[in-house]
Amino acid sequence: MDKLSVFLFVLSFSTIVNAGSGSHSLWALATHIIGETPFPEFTVVVMLDDVQVGYYDSNMKEFIYSGLNPTDKIHDDVAQDGAYVFGTIYQSIKERSFQLKHHLNLTRGVQVQQRMAGCEMLDNGEPAMIMSKNTFNAIYTDRMLYYNMTHFTYDAGKLLPGWDGIRQAYLRTLFENVYLPICIKTMKTFLKREKNIVMRKVPPRLRLINKEVSGGLQVSCLAFGFYPRHINLTLLRDGQPVAEQELTGGEVLPSGDGTYQLRKSLEVSTEELKKRHDYTCTASHLSLDNKLDVSWESGAEKVHLSTLSVLLVMLLIVILLGIFICVKRRRCTAS
Ligand SMILES: *[C@@H]1O[C@H](CO)[C@@H](O)[C@H](O)[C@H]1NC(C)=O
Ligand SMILES: *[C@@H]1O[C@H](CO)[C@@H](O)[C@H](O)[C@H]1NC(C)=O
Ligand SMILES: *[C@@H]1O[C@H](CO)[C@@H](O)[C@H](O)[C@H]1NC(C)=O
Repeated sequence: MDKLSVFLFVLSFSTIVNAGSGSHSLWALATHIIGETPFPEFTVVVMLDDVQVGYYDSNMKEFIYSGLNPTDKIHDDVAQDGAYVFGTIYQSIKERSFQLKHHLNLTRGVQVQQRMAGCEMLDNGEPAMIMSKNTFNAIYTDRMLYYNMTHFTYDAGKLLPGWDGIRQAYLRTLFENVYLPICIKTMKTFLKREKNIVMRKVPPRLRLINKEVSGGLQVSCLAFGFYPRHINLTLLRDGQPVAEQELTGGEVLPSGDGTYQLRKSLEVSTEELKKRHDYTCTASHLSLDNKLDVSWESGAEKVHLSTLSVLLVMLLIVILLGIFICVKRRRCTAS
């Protein structure tokens, strides 16, 4: 169940990363466990965009930078703010876990509460939003708080009743005036630290791949090896974009080497293949000044076939000529 919940959590996390309007984001993914497991009671993973930058747990009670040994502790502002914020989250998430456990009569087993909290910042350094979202035992979405500089949204969830207005007002003040400034300040520090990774621009490579499938051909447009993950990939037929509902794929996936890939596929029937169409795959990405494209033309096989048959006929003539000459010579020598 633990694996499943982590998986679901990461799923919802990636959805949010996609939906964000900000150009950079800092998220804390916190997990609180009640019950016997090999993990610490409370753990936090800190992500800058898609890169893990830090870690905190209830055993160490200290913020640890990623890529460093726990022994090489750095006691700077970020580490202090981290220890403060995650200490606060630990207390509140723990309290809520026990409230939920009692309210739902969960006397046995392992209970997992997860919280995803973080902020987004625009390119110009202005804060864009802050949000916190809870999940209990991976199935119930619980409380949600969201503030985007103009609107504050609060959803108490259905698990625990009775969250009064005063508490809401207090949370709004806390989010606007304490957590958001800390989050943005911390993000700026991390951006400086990790600029070689999160600010890098790696252009995509593009391929148009044809694969035979029953009933025709699958034409796939593949972009790979790019960073950051935002990309616009369009498949055009005779210069017109193919409608998204005709396409399969379309999800940006990590390649495992810190870059991303995206594939969009179209099924083309054997009938359609006979017609002459120009298929073009075009990509635009932050790393590119101009669009990148590759093309392929269907219905061009006939030309290939006729060229091939001309070659075959020529070959046949040469062979026949050879035989003819040879037979003639033998006759000559025989006479
Ligand atoms: C929990 O147990 C109490 C007493 O046994 C009962 O009144 C209550 O309805 C139960 N709550 C749930 C959510 O099942
Ligand atoms: C903030 O959220 C509200 C409600 O969801 C929306 O109407 C508004 O356009 C958002 N503002 C910004 C700046 O995104
Ligand atoms: C993708 O297209 C949208 C809409 O045209 C545009 O706003 C965005 O900047 C493009 N993204 C990239 C990476 O080119």
